[in-house]
Amino acid sequence: MLDLALENCRINQNIVNIGVKDGEIAKISKSPLKADKTINIKGKTILPGLIDAHVHLREPGYEYKENFRTGSMAAAHGGFTTILDMPNTKPETNTAREFKKKIKIASKKSIIDFGLHASIQKLKEIKKITPLKPASFKIFTEKTENHKISRILQILKGSKIPLTFHCEDPQIIKYCTRRLKNETNPESYSLARPSIAEEVATANALAFSHHYDHPIHICHVSSKKTLQLIKSIKAPVTCEITPHHLLLQKKDLKNAGAIAKTNPPLRPPKEAITVKDLKMIDIIASDHAPHTLKEKKENIWKAPPGIPNLEVTLKLLLTLNAKKRLKLAKIQEMLAEKPAKIFRLENKGQIKTGMDADFVIIDPKKTGKIKADEFYSKAHYTPFEGTEYIGEPVMTILRGKVIMKDNEIYDNKGSYVKSSHITLK
Ligand code: NCD
Ligand code: ZN
Ligand code: ZN
Ligand code: ZN
Repeated sequence: MLDLALENCRINQNIVNIGVKDGEIAKISKSPLKADKTINIKGKTILPGLIDAHVHLREPGYEYKENFRTGSMAAAHGGFTTILDMPNTKPETNTAREFKKKIKIASKKSIIDFGLHASIQKLKEIKKITPLKPASFKIFTEKTENHKISRILQILKGSKIPLTFHCEDPQIIKYCTRRLKNETNPESYSLARPSIAEEVATANALAFSHHYDHPIHICHVSSKKTLQLIKSIKAPVTCEITPHHLLLQKKDLKNAGAIAKTNPPLRPPKEAITVKDLKMIDIIASDHAPHTLKEKKENIWKAPPGIPNLEVTLKLLLTLNAKKRLKLAKIQEMLAEKPAKIFRLENKGQIKTGMDADFVIIDPKKTGKIKADEFYSKAHYTPFEGTEYIGEPVMTILRGKVIMKDNEIYDNKGSYVKSSHITLK
């Protein structure tokens, strides 16, 4: 007997019933299914539960900005069932001890499944962290010297664990920022960290991937030229875009001030990435980077960078779909299939028997305006405030359990998702 049947689900043009047993997809069938519990989806579209490969849930250390409870509720509200949390917490997730601690905290508080990226301080921790199955090791090019990257890749050799990069060249940033520090127009932030800084750091990262033939993942690509660089090299590299780098531009800094401040910054029209460029990009990740409103109200130089996106990403992408600018299959690929593949989340990212029964159900006709006061995130602001959207997630299901329905969140306990990269000996 099945635990749950989802009746009348739309997958492409087909209407199917999906049977769930022990949290996994047990059956996909056109004929009716018998189960302990049945939910009639009434022909709405079903996608695999979305995976956000880049979020900052800020715990431990910055709980006043966000925590695993509020952040995971925001994720469920936005249609996500798995998040990969970034290591720039306090303390950093750069030792096996801190990594285990974070698993413990998140296991208690997260309502959705989660994996973790690790960072690196002491090289000898790398081999202690890999048995804990991190999604990747993350590097800020601003803080990591080249000889260290070489050492890291020598240690990681044979593991295929991706090295994830934030690419901005520190020298260019330093020089340009110093020149502009007295400007008060928020748009000058974009010039303080120009595209060339990203291109130089990306070229550097690509050289490492090329030389060591090791998989790297480039976070939040902000400019067309950076994309062209990535595409020009034969190396195992994947890349990511955020909704703000896709949909906003430098002028939005003028409109929204530091609310639109992020690293790398938003770009002028000539440099900005557009929907047409998505064919060159592997995944969309939110880079959910919440801060307090008080912090974001400081001037453009003092306010911290980062935009909270978990609750707007899918709505914005569904709007592109409604306007026939982006296929639903592409959304599914970039927010479920590919992130599962890159970070090796074996049971996630596809609607197929044997996979985790993670789903998001979409009403493609539901319209509204983005309103940050409706967020479950602690960060009640967004540069997308007031943006009209067409299409929204109406139900999120994690391993067969409804965790969001019509904007209401239901309590749940998420689990740690191991990445099945080969472990180092
Ligand atoms: C991120 C943050 O606030 O942690 N900020 C940002 O502007 N993207 C850090 C990061 O991802 O670079
Ligand atoms: Zn970054
Ligand atoms: Zn980030
Ligand atoms: Zn909602």
